[in-house]
Amino acid sequence: MKILVLNGSCRSGGTTEELARAFMDGASESGAEVEMVMLRDQTIQYCTNCLKCYSYDGDGTAPCSLHDDMDDIIRRMVEADGILFASPVHNGFVTGLMTVFWERLSWRVARPDGPFLNMMSIISRIDGKVRAFGSIASAGGMPERLRRFCDDGTPWLKGNAPLILHGQWVGDMYAGADLARQPEGRKDWQRLYFLRRISSRQKQRARDLGMRMADAIRSGRLKPVTMEKMVPPLLGKVLQRLFTASPPYHLAEEPAPGSPAG
Ligand SMILES: Cc1cc2nc3c(=O)[nH]c(=O)nc-3n(C[C@H](O)[C@H](O)[C@H](O)COP(=O)(O)O)c2cc1C
Repeated sequence: MKILVLNGSCRSGGTTEELARAFMDGASESGAEVEMVMLRDQTIQYCTNCLKCYSYDGDGTAPCSLHDDMDDIIRRMVEADGILFASPVHNGFVTGLMTVFWERLSWRVARPDGPFLNMMSIISRIDGKVRAFGSIASAGGMPERLRRFCDDGTPWLKGNAPLILHGQWVGDMYAGADLARQPEGRKDWQRLYFLRRISSRQKQRARDLGMRMADAIRSGRLKPVTMEKMVPPLLGKVLQRLFTASPPYHLAEEPAPGSPAG
């Protein structure tokens, strides 16, 4: 059983890495072979929107016009039975590094399909096995009770990873600001991130998540997410009716003769 950690932290030895290592300890204790890829150590160019992957109609993962470390990372993802996405919270989301990686990933492992409820849908290109997914978000300023004001990254990963990489979300954790001491004056508040420490409780939660992922893979009961399963049946019926009466996709209007676009 192989579990891959994709770490989007730009800092070596930072809080995300500390938590990811605790996750890996838990997973290997539960019998998994674990490996971590630090995305910052890889060469990952920006997606140029050439649409080579998007338009690919063959089997398996789609090709890319850029040649760098993405091929190898995708190969390791396809091999993995479980994948953890670990990222610091940057500006309320995952890091830029993680989104650059996802831009390069999406249409290589998934493709457009449809119509589904009269809309475009997305299906995975790599449906050989059902994988387990999870995430760790490490924040500097927001404690756990205020998570919803600063963690848009987790719902985004949770909504995308199981669908495009064929699998099931098994859990996530948000490590909010646990401080070395209470902030005392304005200067402390201004330097809050420097007071940030990973608590033993947070490390234990990361470890538990590693065990949970390994156990979920071993159970053999993981179910893949599909667009059909994402939309509850009643809502599906309502949307089908609505989008049949008023289709959300339109043909662009013909440009008027003599107009600049005409
Ligand atoms: C550019 C930038 C933006 C950040 N934005 C947030 C934020 O929106 N909310 C938050 O709680 N912490 C924020 N932080 C703090 C980091 O989440 C925190 O320092 C985290 O522990 C970093 O993980 P690392 O140690 O792996 O680098 C930000 C840090 C940076 C550098």
